[in-house]
Amino acid sequence: MKITFYGHASLGIEVGDVQILVDPFISANEAAANIDISSLKADYILLTHAHQDHILDVETIAKQTDAVIVSNFEIASHYENKGFEVHPMNHGGAWDFEFGVVKYVIAHHTSSFPDGSYGGQPGGFVIEGEHKNIYIAGDTALTMDMKLIPMRTQLDLAILPIGDNFTMGVDDAIIASDFVQCDKVLGYHFDTFGYIKIDHEEAKRKFFDKGKDLMLLDIGESIEL
Ligand code: NI
Ligand code: MN
Repeated sequence: MKITFYGHASLGIEVGDVQILVDPFISANEAAANIDISSLKADYILLTHAHQDHILDVETIAKQTDAVIVSNFEIASHYENKGFEVHPMNHGGAWDFEFGVVKYVIAHHTSSFPDGSYGGQPGGFVIEGEHKNIYIAGDTALTMDMKLIPMRTQLDLAILPIGDNFTMGVDDAIIASDFVQCDKVLGYHFDTFGYIKIDHEEAKRKFFDKGKDLMLLDIGESIEL
């Protein structure tokens, strides 16, 4: 499994020859100017919630790739009504896709489209594929529901928001990594806006001091699990 950071909360996940894109917000992110969305491949686009900083480039990329949009029922219906191919899910539900099992899990946040319309309840994803298991938390507060994840899935990587203000910050993300029983963390949802700027070295040190590994990727950088 290969994971590429496209800035903010945007991720590419390659499982075998299947390309998954998560929460594409790239074209308006100045820090991601090196990423050309017309070059992105996607068989599936996973959306954690409907906020603009997670869905901005969905329609452009789905049109050019014919990707299937996977999200909660309300977001899936929104795109289905616009003619896109979708797979609706809801919290606690899992589906066995061609690349592996995806479960839509609880996130503590809000979810509305940019025009204010209802975007269902926000979530995160647990993805099990190619004998690797990852948790993409989405935008969320630290929540006790995270403790449910390791009861079913032994994680190889937890992708957690660390920017604070709109989501967990670093200190809560450290507790979240305890809750999901995974010491290997990829931080995301930081630096993009003024409210979520963080000190990288301090964040890494705080994780290190708890015996954990916080990875912060450059935009466009990948890791292999
Ligand atoms: Ni959000
Ligand atoms: Mn967000």
